[in-house]
Amino acid sequence: MKKGAFFAAIDVGTSKVCTLVGRQDAAREMQVVGVGLVPSRGMRKGMVSNLSDVQQVVQASVREAEAQAGVSISSAYVGLTGSHINYINSRASLDNRRYENPVGGGDVDQVIQACYAQSAASGGRVLHVIPRNFAVDGHWGVRNPVGMYTSTLEVESHVVRGDSSPIDNLVEALHRAGVTPRGLVLEPLASAEAVLVGEEREMGVVLVDIGGGTSDMSIFLDGNIWHTGIIPVGGFQFTQDVSIAFTTPFGAAEEAKVRYGNAIPEMIDAEEMIRLPGFGESMVYKVPRQKLCQVLHERMEELLRIVMVQIKESGLESAPPGGLVLTGGSAKMPGLEQLARGMFPGPVRIGVPKAAAWVPRNLEDPSFATALGLLLWDARHETGNGSSGNGNGANGHGGAARLSGFKQWFTNLAQRVHI
Ligand SMILES: Nc1ncnc2c1ncn2[C@@H]1O[C@H](COP(=O)(O)OP(=O)(O)OP(=O)(O)O)[C@@H](O)[C@H]1O
Ligand SMILES: [Mg+2]
Repeated sequence: MKKGAFFAAIDVGTSKVCTLVGRQDAAREMQVVGVGLVPSRGMRKGMVSNLSDVQQVVQASVREAEAQAGVSISSAYVGLTGSHINYINSRASLDNRRYENPVGGGDVDQVIQACYAQSAASGGRVLHVIPRNFAVDGHWGVRNPVGMYTSTLEVESHVVRGDSSPIDNLVEALHRAGVTPRGLVLEPLASAEAVLVGEEREMGVVLVDIGGGTSDMSIFLDGNIWHTGIIPVGGFQFTQDVSIAFTTPFGAAEEAKVRYGNAIPEMIDAEEMIRLPGFGESMVYKVPRQKLCQVLHERMEELLRIVMVQIKESGLESAPPGGLVLTGGSAKMPGLEQLARGMFPGPVRIGVPKAAAWVPRNLEDPSFATALGLLLWDARHETGNGSSGNGNGANGHGGAARLSGFKQWFTNLAQRVHI
């Protein structure tokens, strides 16, 4: 029997499904004790396109992780992405409070709830209400108002919302696979947990998780979330471009992209040729590797330009001083860091999940940023008090904290948000 509190996370990606089980020991040190990694099916651009396919791949991934960890998983934190995700910055205030009573946690909850109520009224699902700035009697710039004197408490929150149908369909696929989501976490927020360092968030940083189906963006300023955005372009489109440009099957294009791809064609010997199969069985063409890289370069450059536009649309002149951090499987493309350095003024780096004792070697890879971030999110936002090696494993600690509705997810998140 294993000892400790168990945490579980599932990243249902467009390319792969990854379930992680983590265990915290008495010293609250996290250790990954179960990994279930299976190629994805039934997902398109981060959304469910075939319920039973998603059910099957989630089930397979969960079973693999359960077998390794020796626990059963009935609930987990789950990542969410897709172009249906949108955000608004919402303001709310608590007026006429008794000045002589310092602000308490209840006041903070109440004003954040007011932001939630405003956002929920406009339809869809509210996923996160993240307070990014408070004002006490009109003075903005307060990070944590608890204990302060004021008669009016105002908050500006970044509210992340999604459409009902894609969210309900993902939840349905998970339920069919025997898993109840304890919380849905926007994927770029999860990835940020795994690859950003505190100083970067303080200085301000742009994180882009370039996955298989989408590129998920989050911008942090002064330690807080400033902007989130989902760009419906990922590795799938890069591969599709190669497939169309060289009239080669998708599978062969994918293999060539991963094996020979480079975002800077000039780095490749102009004489080097690669072989790509045509659609007929025996047809094989020779094409210059540089040409393949040119196709990838154009798509990657276009994506980075969209990122720049989104930075401007978020209200910033350019990338903040912490620069740009690129993660996700497609960030493994050689030459990408260099390409981005030529386009962005500040520092650029590839975000590999933090090298730490608890991250197994095989997960120190940008593809696992979301899954590892979800596990950290679970550990940070749960008390971990239920399952203490009692055989229920990841199943247990959700107990009282297990949530049944989206409003409650919000409620819990709002209470747990770090301010
Ligand atoms: N060396 C490489 N060069 C370029 N692309 C790569 C490389 N290795 C993996 N990829 C791409 O990474 C993508 C998968 O990334 P990832 O595992 O982050 O996606 P995902 O989480 O399943 O998808 P999403 O988050 O978009 O739903 C695939 O498109 C794959 O082709
Ligand atoms: Mg992903």
